Amino acid sequence: MIVPLYDALKKYIDDGILPFHMPGHKGGRIISREYLKNIAMIDLTELPGTDNLHNPEGPILEAEKLAAKAFGAKESFFLVNGTTSGIYAAMAATLKKGDKVLIQRNSHKSIYSGLILTGAYPVYLSPMIDFDYEIAMGVLPEDVEKALKKDKDIKVVIITYPNYYGFCPDISRISEIVHRYNRILVVDEAHGAHFAFSDKLPITSLEAGADIAVQSIHKTLPAFTQSSILHVGSDRIDIDRLKFSLRLFQTTSPSYILMSSIDMARAYMEEKGNKRLDSVIDLCNYIRDEINNIEGIKCHGKDIIGRYGIKDLDVTKLAINVSGLRLTGLEAEKILRDKFKIQMEMADLYNILAIITVADGEEEINILLKAIRSLRNYKGETDIIKIDDFCDCPEIVIMPAEVFQFRKNMVSLDNAEGKISGDFIIPYPPGIPIICPGERIKKGMVKYISLLYNKGIRIIGVKDFKIKVCENV
Ligand SMILES: Cc1ncc(COP(=O)(O)O)c(C=O)c1O
Repeated sequence: MIVPLYDALKKYIDDGILPFHMPGHKGGRIISREYLKNIAMIDLTELPGTDNLHNPEGPILEAEKLAAKAFGAKESFFLVNGTTSGIYAAMAATLKKGDKVLIQRNSHKSIYSGLILTGAYPVYLSPMIDFDYEIAMGVLPEDVEKALKKDKDIKVVIITYPNYYGFCPDISRISEIVHRYNRILVVDEAHGAHFAFSDKLPITSLEAGADIAVQSIHKTLPAFTQSSILHVGSDRIDIDRLKFSLRLFQTTSPSYILMSSIDMARAYMEEKGNKRLDSVIDLCNYIRDEINNIEGIKCHGKDIIGRYGIKDLDVTKLAINVSGLRLTGLEAEKILRDKFKIQMEMADLYNILAIITVADGEEEINILLKAIRSLRNYKGETDIIKIDDFCDCPEIVIMPAEVFQFRKNMVSLDNAEGKISGDFIIPYPPGIPIICPGERIKKGMVKYISLLYNKGIRIIGVKDFKIKVCENV
């Protein structure tokens, strides 16, 4: 049989790689054996007794109610197309064409796609940047207030909490401000589904008052990829419009494997999550301290709180900076994979990121620590360049939803300055756009993209050093 995809997946398993990436179940380590044994048998459809995701009245509704209780929501909706579909539904339920929405410039691609789908107009909130790590950190509540005061047409505010690296802005203050101005707060909590199960982790956005929170259950909890939940936290949301929107963005054949996997993850976390998280948090504190004792390597801890708009930190994320070894994150990631059979969640210019979940224990943490200590033997030759002008303020020339009507052509990055981008330019991971369709390409952006490209970072929207621009604009 010729099955290249299955072969590639099988090879990954056979290579015996230790995962510090999603999904949170880490190869099914803590998923019930009985459930796994039945996996093909429960791949069912809408049948008598199995309910219907688009109009739940039976076990799906019951499971959603249990999830709402466990995560602290008024109402919860299962998603089988990841947080991406929940973001689309949340935007479609709260925004109409021409409405303004306040979003972080370092938002995930799904929020930018939501602009195209809704025809809403973005107003950008600049994140604070840690130029030592080259990471976009938090946003300031004062900046949210300034934007709302200045622009009365903003209807919705979308905040990412926590960010990919585990850094959390002051969501309680942001929530208070957004509601004082009578606006709606949608939180992209893709990376924070585990917060509900430990008071040693940051508060949940629902506790802070979010009107809608969307969480990827698959990222940090023991559930299969694509399983997410959209939670409603207040009465400010028109539930009928939200349900209609959810139907637009979800398949009519939702996977019962995914839906039951959300249910199983919720039940596991309710039964064992708090205790498991206690020990995982201790292990994370231990490894973080040890990493910070290694010369040339550093990992932000709680000391970051109060800087860069950071109010709290998810300690289960380890953003490890290797620039002191003159290695790029990409080089360090490759060493860990090739020499130590460890796969990180992601690597960027100067960092590698590990996701630790309830499926990890002392053994995995010790293997990771040993490998990271060994990175000292691989001193690299990378010149550490501080780029503090890449975040040029974007200038929107054409609305994201209208760019598709323009003819496009490819130009070399060297000749792109001043032209209007015809596509997203997104380093992957973390999936955060440097340029969006319809924006003027600026000098700092070209410089930053060229640097990432030359360091071997995968960038969607760049091919052979060329990018797509709109013709005749
Ligand atoms: C911050 C953020 N939001 C949203 C998403 C989309 O989540 P999903 O992959 O569950 O669709 C991601 C995915 O990586 C993300 O990092």
